[in-house]
Amino acid sequence: MRTAILGTGSFTPKKVLTNLDLEKIVDTTDEWIRTRTGIVERRISDENTPSSELALPAARNALDMAGLKATDLDAIIVATVTPDYVFPSTACLLQHKLGANKIMAYDSSAGCTGFIYVLVQADAMIKAGMAKYVLDVGVEELTKITNWDDRASCVLFGDGAGAVVLGPSVETKNEDAGILATYTASDGSLGDLLIQYGGGSAMPASHKTVDENLHTIYMVGNEVFKHAVRSMEEAALKGLELSGVSMDDLDWLIPHQANIRIIDFLARRLKLPMEKVVVTIDKYGNTSASSIPLALDDAVRDGRIKSGDNVLMVAFGAGFTWGSVVVRWL
Ligand code: ACO
Repeated sequence: MRTAILGTGSFTPKKVLTNLDLEKIVDTTDEWIRTRTGIVERRISDENTPSSELALPAARNALDMAGLKATDLDAIIVATVTPDYVFPSTACLLQHKLGANKIMAYDSSAGCTGFIYVLVQADAMIKAGMAKYVLDVGVEELTKITNWDDRASCVLFGDGAGAVVLGPSVETKNEDAGILATYTASDGSLGDLLIQYGGGSAMPASHKTVDENLHTIYMVGNEVFKHAVRSMEEAALKGLELSGVSMDDLDWLIPHQANIRIIDFLARRLKLPMEKVVVTIDKYGNTSASSIPLALDDAVRDGRIKSGDNVLMVAFGAGFTWGSVVVRWL
């Protein structure tokens, strides 16, 4: 029995922040951002719209495509590093907003690899018979934890949500479809290279943490870049090997959208033409855990991903964490 992705959905805030807007905030240029990152613009949420409000329409869209109701769900897992609150979880807020039954609902924190991790969790739950239908969401409002004084990182991040509904492939018209392989990894020794220091039990919120801007993303960009390149290649190759899908049979690569140069490098290493790579970084920037489900929903809804296609999703993020999922599309 396999776990199939029955529906996808996404949602992004209306407000667009362009590179030209950023030129007015920090010492940067549209040309630098485009050539060093591939980003042209990103979406930005307003102060009255928390992550759960982006997750809600994304989840509804995924349920609609799956032909299911919120009350059909057995579990909700939300991947995020920008939850509405430390607690209760954004997944519980979403359970209530969707009108789902009193099912298991929790958040998972694995940085930009978050969506890969929650796919792995849902796959295991469904295969174990613990749940029939699971809602996985990746949602972030990174612009709310962005250090707007740091030109090397503030140009990268954006807000958005993506969701999928998963269920047993035996219930579908194509039993053969679904998740073929998963691969996950972590290395906590490198955690300091990409971190939000303030607000946890190590450094509770205080006047000092606010004054020193410690509630925002701290990133050693070029070190993260090197590790991202190596780890995403490892995860991609491992996922393909475990799935038995050859490079020739791979139809789509959906990488975490952190930097177009990382994506280019990965495609070259896999000898995959860029026509087979789903790229959204130009319009959304790096949306961490929501970047893969946002890109997936784009490619499913515009008809690029078709029934029977082999899709490789691969990510790298804070932790460090990295991983991949190979899916045969329903
Ligand atoms: N505008 C103009 N110049 C800039 C800017 C900017 N916005 N930012 C940095 N620079 C300058 C630097 O000051 C430096 O100048 P110097 O040579 O005079 O000192 C120069 O550009 C090069 O700086 P680098 O940091 O070496 O630039 P790099 O080419 O590495 O690009 C970037 C920086 C885009 C951040 C890149 O390192 C990157 O994409 N890193 C990976 C990010 C990532 O993958 N994150 C994944 C997870 S994110 C998450 O989990 C939330």
